[in-house]
Amino acid sequence: MPSASLRAEIVGWGKCLPDRVVTNVELAATLDTSDEWIRERTGICERRIVAEGEATTSMAVTAARQALERADADPRSLDLIIVATSTPDHLMPATASQVQNALGAAHAGAFDLNAGCSGFVYALTMGQTAIASGAFRTVLVIGADTMSAVVNWDDRTTAVLFGDGAGAVLLRATENDYGILSTLLGSDGAGDELLMIPAGGSALRASQQTLDDHLHGLQMNGRQVYRFATRILPDATQSVLLAAGLSLDAVDWVIPHQANTRIIEAAAERLKLPIDRFVVNVDAYGNTSAASVPIALCEAVEDGRIQPGQNLVLVGFGAGLTWAAAAVRWATEKPAGRRASWRQASRWALYRWAAFRTRLMRGVNRLMARVGRLWNVTIND
Ligand code: ACO
Repeated sequence: MPSASLRAEIVGWGKCLPDRVVTNVELAATLDTSDEWIRERTGICERRIVAEGEATTSMAVTAARQALERADADPRSLDLIIVATSTPDHLMPATASQVQNALGAAHAGAFDLNAGCSGFVYALTMGQTAIASGAFRTVLVIGADTMSAVVNWDDRTTAVLFGDGAGAVLLRATENDYGILSTLLGSDGAGDELLMIPAGGSALRASQQTLDDHLHGLQMNGRQVYRFATRILPDATQSVLLAAGLSLDAVDWVIPHQANTRIIEAAAERLKLPIDRFVVNVDAYGNTSAASVPIALCEAVEDGRIQPGQNLVLVGFGAGLTWAAAAVRWATEKPAGRRASWRQASRWALYRWAAFRTRLMRGVNRLMARVGRLWNVTIND
């Protein structure tokens, strides 16, 4: 029987931002835009873009390994891995399964969740619910997106807004009065066309025509999304606080989806909360979609802004349309010293073993397929 008060506590956190920095000035060299326009309308100064060979899974794995390191946790203790993404490495299999494999998390179930930029807070809610049910004790929640793979680099209205990255948190069951206090999910599919990648799915299949018409790139009605975002951010924040029995005065930090500083400032004004109670890093990374909330959380914990006992609101909005919020009482101290070296070594060995086993299995599977083909040829002859 699950305990009535069982909830999820965040015990580890990690992030991955690609090394390559792309400034507004660089974008303005190939697009009809300017550093001034982008800064003024969005607050974005630069963003990170993946290098050749990097993708959603590789960033997710880096963030996940950091989260396990911070919690000094064994990957084999994971029960469930949820990856929020709308830019998976492949349509199939799920990114989460690839992350599970790279971590050597032999006992974990794994699935992807697509709720656009709200994805991480959606996944956090699923992780909290899984733990509260009593069926799972340790859940890894990741938000990861490679937006550079889906923006139309010729479209100045969207190309300047996005960046790549990943963030992860490790959830563990607790019976104390901290952790995830309340959550809220919302969706309004009537707004589907406001933020959409039209082609490449089952409705509009990839073809030469869809490529020629640039239908595999993200399309957005910026003004409508702006209106939606400035309404939903404060509404969702207030509703999730009400559910947690907290007043706005009790909130130490709001960690919103990082799409645009103007949206965050408008939300702060509507909530009558000072802007310095919002964690904002959109200037440095642009909109990293499902990764933006965990990256901002991670930075604020690492630089000491978030302290044990503080109340946080994590709030996202995005394609769908969707929105999600979570009220969290932070409990975990930033690890002060080095982790136990034998546990570090065992994680390292597990990652190496997982990589070796993958190569071995792929080799064996290919060999079996070849032998099978030869066998068929021999029998049919
Ligand atoms: N550089 C220069 N000019 C530009 C650019 C650019 N990069 N982009 C648009 N413009 C032009 C437009 O063409 C327009 O010109 P016009 O007046 O001659 O027609 C002018 O600038 C004003 O365009 P608006 O769309 O009205 O500009 P606005 O002030 O609304 O800002 C923006 C646009 C930044 C996109 C804003 O609407 C916004 O932030 N919307 C929300 C976007 C968002 O949050 N998206 C993500 C949500 S969820 C997710 O993350 C997937």
